[in-house]
Amino acid sequence: MKKLVFLTGAGMSAESGISTFRDSGGLWEQYPVEAVASIQGYERDPELVQKFYNERRQQLGSVTPNEGHKLVASLEDKFKVSVITQNVDDLHERAGSQHIIHLHGELMKATSSRNPNDPNCIVTLPADNPVIHMGDKAKDGSQLRPFIVWFGESVPMIEPAIEEVSRADILVVIGTSLNVYPAAGLLNFANSRCKIYLIDPNPVPYDPSLGIHHIMKGASKGMEELCQLLVNEG
Ligand code: APR
Repeated sequence: MKKLVFLTGAGMSAESGISTFRDSGGLWEQYPVEAVASIQGYERDPELVQKFYNERRQQLGSVTPNEGHKLVASLEDKFKVSVITQNVDDLHERAGSQHIIHLHGELMKATSSRNPNDPNCIVTLPADNPVIHMGDKAKDGSQLRPFIVWFGESVPMIEPAIEEVSRADILVVIGTSLNVYPAAGLLNFANSRCKIYLIDPNPVPYDPSLGIHHIMKGASKGMEELCQLLVNEG
């Protein structure tokens, strides 16, 4: 079976009703990114940051995977599929994808504010009440915080992601503006025989020498077209 690797961003979840970050009306137009998505912002005003993520978790309970998520999962019966996502929602999981690498953390998980990557401190929040209050403690006694990689923090999952991309026969990039590193740099680790597709209704800055096939559609319609192309290529 060929190895098929996906790199997804906020556009993957747009059709599920979750705002992207940098489109017009995106999340970073409503909130100053450094206030709610950076380690400095958390240290300056932890209550504001907890509130921001509590609101995003509440919203997650009212959205479902879209056709694009479902088609990504359906390809697992024809390919060895890995999903590398910048998204912190659980829609790829809920659509049935089995091999997912979250580069920027997971909204439904919480961790230690002293050592956020201590595996003994990472917990899944209860689906019926996924909120963190100031005063809630992690297993190491520190304040519980979102299990999110904030700007200014390291991306521990980037190494396994590079490994996946370097071994891909096919790489499919969906719904990311390729603005944020190291995630955006993953494309450069595709080997010379890897075929790269990009699904995005808008132009995206990428290196033209990569020979990328750009499907200028949304995630759902774009995945339908990709599935047809993959069937035709055999
Ligand atoms: N289908 C596919 N792509 C879409 C759709 C859609 N329906 N709607 C919008 N897009 C595309 C936009 O054209 C854009 O290229 O999704 C992309 C969204 O880009 P961003 O909002 O920058 O999101 P992303 O690239 O995932 O941001 C990366 O930045 O703020 C951080 O940690 C955050 O993980 C995030 C990272």
